[in-house]
Amino acid sequence: MAWKKYRFGTRFYDALSGEWAVYRAGRVAGIELMGLRAGDTVLDLGCGTGLSFELLVNAVGPPGHVIGVDASAQMLQVAAKRAVRNGWTNVRVVQADATKLSAEDLADEGATPQIDAVFSAYALSVMGNHPTVLERATRLLVPGGRVGIVDMQRPVGAAAIFTPLARLACAMGGADIEAHPWEWLTQRANNVKQTSRRGGHIQAVTGTLK
Ligand SMILES: C[S@@+](CC[C@H](N)C(=O)[O-])C[C@H]1O[C@@H](n2cnc3c(N)ncnc32)[C@H](O)[C@@H]1O
Repeated sequence: MAWKKYRFGTRFYDALSGEWAVYRAGRVAGIELMGLRAGDTVLDLGCGTGLSFELLVNAVGPPGHVIGVDASAQMLQVAAKRAVRNGWTNVRVVQADATKLSAEDLADEGATPQIDAVFSAYALSVMGNHPTVLERATRLLVPGGRVGIVDMQRPVGAAAIFTPLARLACAMGGADIEAHPWEWLTQRANNVKQTSRRGGHIQAVTGTLK
């Protein structure tokens, strides 16, 4: 249960996550690459404290919706506060284990939302069973729905000298640096777009399932 690591110290997650120095760049790139449209409903899998919410809210606009899913009640508490503090009334959070996610988990007042896009940043490499997570989540997508994955690998080329640092960052967050969850998508999607940041350490991949 990798998410159990994310029950403690969640108030300090944002400060300790290297967001501004390293990881925000990948989040920005991945969300831009997804080409979300105004009015879309996007699922943020393993949303954590909601660090992607602002970018997702801006991409889907006031008519759109962001549903943050995470197994950790403590991370979601921070995420929900972020949404309230910023007046994002089109954001809601759902506590669920992504390896068992179903449409019922996402139901709101008895209605199951239409999901236009599934996004996940720095979470699939933590979950341990990303193929199951992606299979379950993408089953909920509308036909032609988009998938966006931002995650980590070892830096490449000249940046390979930073591999020990990258390994440390992943180990601290419980992420498997060799998981490469975006490969699930590149093997199954049309219109694959891929970019990288921070010497290849961050990979952002989007596509539409065949
Ligand atoms: C490294 S954090 C990333 C959070 C956020 N996406 C971000 O970009 O900052 C990984 C998150 O995945 C969540 N997580 C891990 N396993 C999970 C599971 N099986 N189901 C749902 N969430 C899970 C953890 O609780 C944690 O909030």
